[in-house]
Amino acid sequence: MSKVHFDIQAIRQQFPFLSNDTSMVYLDSAATTQKPKCVIDAISHYYTKQNANVHRGTHSLTAQATTKFEQARECVQHFINAHSSKEIIWTRGATEAINLIAQTYARSTLQAGDEILVGEMEHHANIVPWQIVAEQTGAKVVKVPMTSNCQWDMQAYQTLLSAKTKIVAAAHITNVTATRQPIEKIIELAHKIGAIAVIDGAQGIVHESIDVQALGCDFYIFSGHKLYAPTGVGVLYGKQSILESMPVWHGGGKMVEKVSFEQTSYSALPGKFEAGTPNVAGAIALATAIEWLNQFDKQQIEAHYKQLLNQLVIGLNKIDGLRIVGLQPNASVVSFTLQLDGEDIHHNDIATLLDQQGIAVRSGHHCAHPLMDALGINGTVRVSLGIYNNDKDIDMLLVGLNKAIALL
Ligand code: ALA
Repeated sequence: MSKVHFDIQAIRQQFPFLSNDTSMVYLDSAATTQKPKCVIDAISHYYTKQNANVHRGTHSLTAQATTKFEQARECVQHFINAHSSKEIIWTRGATEAINLIAQTYARSTLQAGDEILVGEMEHHANIVPWQIVAEQTGAKVVKVPMTSNCQWDMQAYQTLLSAKTKIVAAAHITNVTATRQPIEKIIELAHKIGAIAVIDGAQGIVHESIDVQALGCDFYIFSGHKLYAPTGVGVLYGKQSILESMPVWHGGGKMVEKVSFEQTSYSALPGKFEAGTPNVAGAIALATAIEWLNQFDKQQIEAHYKQLLNQLVIGLNKIDGLRIVGLQPNASVVSFTLQLDGEDIHHNDIATLLDQQGIAVRSGHHCAHPLMDALGINGTVRVSLGIYNNDKDIDMLLVGLNKAIALL
């Protein structure tokens, strides 16, 4: 398919948020993105013209909604090159997807003494579900330490891998520093000792073309809302044979084949993991967002991010006492801390002073306490870009930051 030339002005015009006079300079897209008009329209169109429950009943509206819903699943399947649409399970987001794996696959297979290896730099959503299931099964969550550059310590990882290792969980791209982790090697080494590999793609899916078959991971999960789709919809990809072997999780309508008080049997994939009425509009809108993104050349998008990151880093490096956290700024994220006259400046103070100038950045621990502890800090200011940011946004941030510093 021929691609649309990347034209930042034309892209900005597609985001109603940016044409709002009162809108902020939005630099918090790693938390959630603004939505293009086509995605907002897809939700509105669904509720105006197509709203019906799916996989239930025989009227034409439900048939139409079901077709759109299943087409959205196929769209996701092709987007990540899954072997079958049965391998695509709708969830509320990345967090729910990891909890599903923990409470089905992990809970039914782990035994006391087994180990789950988890990266030290992980988001809490890729730590806590494993701790919960470890408590339930007697298994142990083992930290794979990170290097000072927030990278998975591969030497330590190889030492920690053993016959006890049953699950390895890693982020594709770390949410605080955007460090790209060596997931190919992490997966390969996990498989060598017979463990399964779970990849948290919440940030990775935004920047790389994903081919789950080439990657060979057992699970790859992500949220829609970081991909310009609405909140409340996400994806669990799992290898079909593993999903088939897993017990069900939530019980209710749609996930059953036959219910009786004596015995209940369950649906085949993917329905088996989709109890209750799903987020139909969210799934359709996620497919719309994917189709919208697919019209652009990914390399041109990444080149745009790179140019903005360079401009940002040059500006930040001119500020005395400012320290960028992590290896090299990557993807579309820069996290930093600031000291003035040898005193730590609180990240929330900087973010508040920027907010007062109409600039939105995220401050805090970014749901990554262990990463913060490893770095010996209690938080950072995180600037994260979306496809719609331009050089003027970066200029405004740098001017705003210097003004904030002058006030501190
Ligand atoms: N995980 C999201 C972030 O990093 C919310 O901001």
